[in-house]
Amino acid sequence: MSGSVKFSTASDALDAAQVPFRTVYTGARIPVVGLGTFGSDRFSGDEIAASVKTAISLGYRHIDCAAVYGNEHLIGEALREVLSSGVVRREDLWITSKLWNNKHAEADVIPAFEKSLHELGLDYLDLYLIHWPFPNYHAPGVDVTSRDPHAVPYIHDNYMKTWHQLEKLVDQGLVRHIGTSNMTIPKLKLLLRDARIKPACNEMELHPHFQQPELYQFVVDQGIVPIGYSPIGSPRRPDRDKTPDDTVDIEDPVIVRIAERLNVHPAYVCIAWAVQRGQVPIPFSVKREQIRSNLHAAITMPLTEADMQEIAGIDKNCRLIKGQVFLWNGARDWEDLWDVDGVIPS
Ligand SMILES: NC(=O)c1ccc[n+]([C@@H]2O[C@H](COP(=O)([O-])OP(=O)(O)OC[C@H]3O[C@@H](n4cnc5c(N)ncnc54)[C@H](OP(=O)(O)O)[C@@H]3O)[C@@H](O)[C@H]2O)c1
Repeated sequence: MSGSVKFSTASDALDAAQVPFRTVYTGARIPVVGLGTFGSDRFSGDEIAASVKTAISLGYRHIDCAAVYGNEHLIGEALREVLSSGVVRREDLWITSKLWNNKHAEADVIPAFEKSLHELGLDYLDLYLIHWPFPNYHAPGVDVTSRDPHAVPYIHDNYMKTWHQLEKLVDQGLVRHIGTSNMTIPKLKLLLRDARIKPACNEMELHPHFQQPELYQFVVDQGIVPIGYSPIGSPRRPDRDKTPDDTVDIEDPVIVRIAERLNVHPAYVCIAWAVQRGQVPIPFSVKREQIRSNLHAAITMPLTEADMQEIAGIDKNCRLIKGQVFLWNGARDWEDLWDVDGVIPS
């Protein structure tokens, strides 16, 4: 990975100090845009590690990683190169990783975390998330029909055992913040009731066609920072996450019209909307011009109040990452993963 050219700031870099941030309840500041690193089973680890270096050279300071993406060892090499250059200090970066579903057992959590930390070449993480609230596993690259024969519904006592291991990581100074991902209001209420250390961030699917207004507001009201995944509507998501009824954010007439007015790509409007609404989008790209554009969109605040209101009106409640591969025997359909009736199915 380490190229012969020493890491440096790009000549067309954006000023990292101009990138807005959100303040989490500890007072720490999370940059409002992060680089996603899930290659949707389509992009290689080397391409993604290169995009991490590109992003940091362009002014990104926030990287969203996960053990299941299978590329943390390569991202670690990229981070080592960046940090050894002296251009960026560790404390300038916000690095997130996530505990994968097959490591929820009490004895597995800390070793899984240590593996991520070691592969990333770091001595602490800014944020460690439980990737999904279920211990249900799928192998990389599976299709939508794949099921884990041991899959179970959400079991709160078990989730809390996993959470308490994350709390230990905070106590040990190995993680600055812990958080959740793919949660619902009923599950978060239980966690907030029982956690000693409350979640700092909740990572959730958020884009103009899936705005999750109730969950978004609940999270904000609890002082939790919402991190929005698939902010452009994940046009390259794995085939298992595509269904015929899915809508396409970047083809929405409202998004396209605003983009034409601003002379930008519709993706730019999606990122600007996310930042101006108040969440932290984590767009993925391996293309330099897209990586730069996604950071630029966060700095310029180009949308008017009327634009924001118009985009609020195009929510289609279209969840893209439905999670079918995490279903358990006896579940009705993917909506059971999301407590759509306000009740956690057992
Ligand atoms: N917590 C979770 O369970 C979870 C789930 C999903 C994702 N995530 C995180 O969220 C990140 C982002 O989600 P995602 O990859 O699903 O979706 P996304 O960021 O909405 O979509 C990425 C795709 O959008 C296109 N794109 C990006 N920037 C663009 C630009 N400026 N102009 C035009 N097109 C642009 C690219 O498509 P082309 O390659 O075709 O150009 C890119 O592959 C992931 O990498 C991961 O870190 C987390």
